Amino acid sequence: MTPHRVIVDCDPGQDDFINLMLMAGAPEVFDVVAVTAVAGNVGLALTANNARLACDWAGWATVPVYAGCAAPLMRGLATAEHVHGTTGVEGLPPAEPATPLEETHAVTALIHCLRGETAPITIIATGPLTNIATALIMAPDITDRIAQIVLMGGARAAGGNITPSAEFNMAVDPHAAARVADSSIPLVVFGLDVTHQLCMTPERRARIRAINQPVATVVADMLDASARRLPAGASHDGPPLHDPCTALYLIAPELFELSSCALAVETDSPLTYGHTSVDLHGVTERSPNARWATAIDAPAAFLHIEDRLARLT
Ligand code: BDR
Ligand code: CA
Repeated sequence: MTPHRVIVDCDPGQDDFINLMLMAGAPEVFDVVAVTAVAGNVGLALTANNARLACDWAGWATVPVYAGCAAPLMRGLATAEHVHGTTGVEGLPPAEPATPLEETHAVTALIHCLRGETAPITIIATGPLTNIATALIMAPDITDRIAQIVLMGGARAAGGNITPSAEFNMAVDPHAAARVADSSIPLVVFGLDVTHQLCMTPERRARIRAINQPVATVVADMLDASARRLPAGASHDGPPLHDPCTALYLIAPELFELSSCALAVETDSPLTYGHTSVDLHGVTERSPNARWATAIDAPAAFLHIEDRLARLT
């Protein structure tokens, strides 16, 4: 197959980091043009640092890493150290990244990369959508340069994980998410409805550890750290792998059930900002603008995760 040329916009974050490892284990699927970091799970200095560490672990010596927006478009930054630890990648041994940080701002880099491509390419987005929305605001001509945005964010049936009605990435920057939803770019959206179906149970974590290779071992360490931070009485049997649904979709789309929908993001309500309105049944007059994931074959997805991690050393 011809690999997907992709830009990864992310806020690592343990599950963002694991997503990048799955991509590294699938070089025939992904041709990574750049990694752009945004503030989210932790502040921008840490997400950029963690993106560089991820490139080290991935063995991506030539993939440039850029730091982007340090705060959402209109709200103050909310972070998630309670989930990911103070570094954002709890479980990963501290190190000085070998991968350099490019001087160019990530938004400038996104615009330049997209304009320089011979054909539209895919963006994988696993953090708040601030960088992407800012690029679209500054350079609307790039809209046509983006083949699709495969993103983790939102919730419909599952309810929220940061407020009762909003998922974290959408709640951190609802205005950016709304700008992306209104962009007319094809969206493939993996919200909590589906990511909560892919939990890293103790047995799955043990199987990853049993691969007994450095990358798989740090992934197991991060998942164990994440499991220790699950709230008492959590309904999941292990941490959900949110962001890796994006790479898994491009690796094996048949794992997922997706439905066309009209997606909109609440920006104004103090109570429900970041809520995703997902019209699957045509009850609004809005035109479909996204495909919304409703289900994953989790056992089969885990086999892919195991297989891709086992290819890395
Ligand atoms: C999302 O929020 C972050 O904490 C994770 O990295 C994921 O992108 C899940 O709500
Ligand atoms: Ca993330």
